[in-house]
Amino acid sequence: MKADVVLGLQWGDEGKGKIVDVLTPAYRVIARFQGGPNAGHSLEFEDKKFVLHTIPSGIFHETVTNIIGNGVVIDPVILMAEINKLNALGVDVSKRLLISKKAHLILPTHRIIDAAAEAAKGKTKIGSTLKGIGPTYMDKTGRNGLRVGDILSSAFMERYTALKNKHIEFLKQFDYAYEVEEYEKQWMEGIENLRSFSFVESEYAINKYFSEGHKILAEGAQGSLLDVDFGSYPYVTSSSTICAGACTGLGIAPGKIGVVMGIFKAYCTRVGSGPFPTELDNEVGERIRQAGREFGATTGRARRTGWLDLVALKYAVMISGVTQLIMTKADVLDDFDEIQVAVAYTSNGEEIQHLPFEINDPLEPVYKTFKGWKRPISGIKNEAELPFELMNYVRFIEKETGVPVKIISVGPDRAQTIVR
Ligand code: GDP
Ligand code: IMO
Ligand code: MG
Repeated sequence: MKADVVLGLQWGDEGKGKIVDVLTPAYRVIARFQGGPNAGHSLEFEDKKFVLHTIPSGIFHETVTNIIGNGVVIDPVILMAEINKLNALGVDVSKRLLISKKAHLILPTHRIIDAAAEAAKGKTKIGSTLKGIGPTYMDKTGRNGLRVGDILSSAFMERYTALKNKHIEFLKQFDYAYEVEEYEKQWMEGIENLRSFSFVESEYAINKYFSEGHKILAEGAQGSLLDVDFGSYPYVTSSSTICAGACTGLGIAPGKIGVVMGIFKAYCTRVGSGPFPTELDNEVGERIRQAGREFGATTGRARRTGWLDLVALKYAVMISGVTQLIMTKADVLDDFDEIQVAVAYTSNGEEIQHLPFEINDPLEPVYKTFKGWKRPISGIKNEAELPFELMNYVRFIEKETGVPVKIISVGPDRAQTIVR
């Protein structure tokens, strides 16, 4: 058996939560492999809406096991709040969730360092979600981190205090006032509560599921253009958001990767700072923001909006070897007379068709214009009823990327999904 992978191909918020929830019935295991509570994955069904931050989006399906893999970073306060909310809805999370002992812990002081470092950056700030993601991955690669499995050690408190003190020393370089005690209290409660969950060596757990013939779906967080290596550095997150991240973040051998599903919105959004060549900082962008309800699921910040960027999409497809595309939020463009797609950039007066190293320098998009369909599509149930103009747009994307669009999502609800 192989593991299929779902990835965001843009700057996050492509609709991964919704799509993973839709795909879950075909799988035995849903596993998160990177990121942490910087993610906000929304699910809608039966007139209810849920936002998940650390827990995989398969949690609402009773017979599915959800795994938080070694590549994920966990804030016990946020995780427990999420679990309590789900329990209140009647979802018995402890029966459906396994947590990797190797997943790293976000300490209260990691959050403070995140905030202090961002404040010190001033105008060049990343626009981080301030959940402590960057500092936690820094301690992971710097070999200082604390992991979930360490909770079980008698030396845990000693190691916690040593790392916290290191952080307090580090924070002295910033002119930043902070208070840690209140959050630390909640954090310790979170750690205590976590003890009742099943900690596993998720690489063994996953490979056992494989050997028993079960199907696994790896759920990405963030998007390819926020990848620490291939994203618009330094305006990125601190983990591997691409397909390879599923291997290192779960212990899946590269040869065991099956279908690689890449999700993209019919347009583009970005939250936080950094380059966005097709950004529409105007009334058209505002129309997309309102129609698409483009406000962050984690921070509530208004998302920046713009046209689809095919140069960037092709790059993301290349890096992850995407074999199937999923287009979301086509319905948001229902009212537009014309829809534009960037097919190249002009850089220093020269036309280029690749994402350059100098992505932070001005890039002028070269657009191809498509006729809009000008009718509501969110009630459509099958492909044959989709407007010709939309299918024209879809076929162009398939031709340019060389990858079939297998799913078209026409609304936030589970049911508003057309599988081709
Ligand atoms: P994720 O981080 O990739 O899981 O995406 P988010 O949940 O942060 O943001 C996607 C938003 O779009 C959520 O509010 C979803 O409910 C919503 N959504 C997902 N698919 C569609 C769609 O096809 N149409 C519309 N209108 N909304 C969608
Ligand atoms: P999901 O999984 C959109 C962005 C932040 C910031 C940058 C770094 O919901 O798609 P970080 O907190 O990681 O230090 O922030 O990355 N970012 C996201 N943008 N969706 C996300 O997750 C994101 N997670 C981080 O806005 O620009
Ligand atoms: Mg999101």
